[in-house]
Amino acid sequence: METSTGLAAPAADLSDPRFWQLPAPARAAAFAELRRLPAPVFFGDPATGRGFHALVRHADVVEASRTPAVFLSGPGVTTPEPPRWVRLVFGDSMVNLDDPRHAQLRRIVSRAFTPRLLGQVEEDIRRVATRLVDDVERRRPEDFVTSVAAELPFQVICTMMGIPEHPRRMILDQVNHASENIGVARPLRRRIRMPGRGLLALARMQGMVASIGRERRRRPTEDLISALVTADVDGRRLTGRELGAFFSLLLVAGVETTRNALAHGLHLLTANPEQRALLLADLDGGLGGAVDEIIRHATPIIHFRRTLAVDHELGGPGGPLLRAGEKVALFFGSANRDETVFPDPDAFDITRTPNPHLGFGGGGPHYCIGAHLARQEMKVLFRELFARLPEVRSVGEPDIVPSNFDHRVRSLRFTF
Ligand code: HEM
Repeated sequence: METSTGLAAPAADLSDPRFWQLPAPARAAAFAELRRLPAPVFFGDPATGRGFHALVRHADVVEASRTPAVFLSGPGVTTPEPPRWVRLVFGDSMVNLDDPRHAQLRRIVSRAFTPRLLGQVEEDIRRVATRLVDDVERRRPEDFVTSVAAELPFQVICTMMGIPEHPRRMILDQVNHASENIGVARPLRRRIRMPGRGLLALARMQGMVASIGRERRRRPTEDLISALVTADVDGRRLTGRELGAFFSLLLVAGVETTRNALAHGLHLLTANPEQRALLLADLDGGLGGAVDEIIRHATPIIHFRRTLAVDHELGGPGGPLLRAGEKVALFFGSANRDETVFPDPDAFDITRTPNPHLGFGGGGPHYCIGAHLARQEMKVLFRELFARLPEVRSVGEPDIVPSNFDHRVRSLRFTF
């Protein structure tokens, strides 16, 4: 492994699954070392070109995100990229597309995220959050993730989409099952068996959503599926297959991320009692800052990838050369600890101002479409939780799934 300027690189190998099983402080130290180098490090095999340049600084991740004609999202932003036949059968997800198809799809789905529709969703979020906290008081569950953190975003998206009650449990099981295995090193036996089961589940989910879509096209209601299948943008609306692909994307992009952010949030507010006291002293005034600081500190999505369309000098003429066809990985978590942007970056500080974190992406056309919704969900849930159960706290350490893709919390014990 070497840097793009040919200098020797540090010992940590981000392409080795074992790196992602190291304790968080060891990984953070490796990224701090990478940020100090003059150029991004290439991980992989330079002879075959298989591998990626690691973009670890705030400015580099922003540049790649905001120069989409050079840093392409196609053929895919996750590793490994989805096989071609999967994309043909299931449809492309917008996160993996470039213009003009990306812009076209994004214009259609953006209509579902207008302030008016999101205003209506606020009611749903409040209703679900109240019910979940009622349930916590009554049942006293042990695990925060399954009883609260995973439920809230899932129920909110299903309600937004207009998914009936009865298949929801099956869908949530499939989402948990499928996403548990993204970016995780697994024994070979499971690696071979997983895709079949995951794809079958995906096919079932997509078939179900497509049939709801056909129904809504005939008889539109107030839900998101109706908005998507009847929206007419540039003479286009979503096909059944695109609708299915979008729903799958929402489940993974919108449920998993928010679930992990909520779990990390409760843990951070337990591990930092002075910050918790600050928040509880002024819940309404402090929640906005707390939510963004949780997202910066926890960074639910670790990295997305881009592919170079043309040769490019990073940071301007004379900068490190990235060649057409090469891959880069945008390490959002590392950018969020960039000491040139965030003073004392490892500290959890809910009053941090400004807080230009890249937890929702580095800007540009793929910036998280659900950022506002995610913030709303986190604020409403934490307000409900801390107002009604001021003693609520996590117990012990979160059970983290080692992954190079997301900071997934499998379970987190809690009490109140
Ligand atoms: C704390 C919660 C969340 C985090 C940390 C998060 C993070 C991200 C990140 C890092 C990206 C990629 C941005 C880029 O490449 O520039 C993204 C894209 C996306 N997110 Fe989120 N997200 C969250 C919640 C949500 C929610 C609630 C939804 C929807 C209900 C959502 C839907 C999407 C979609 C559809 C994209 C792809 C956008 C595109 O390609 O144009 N996300 N998100």
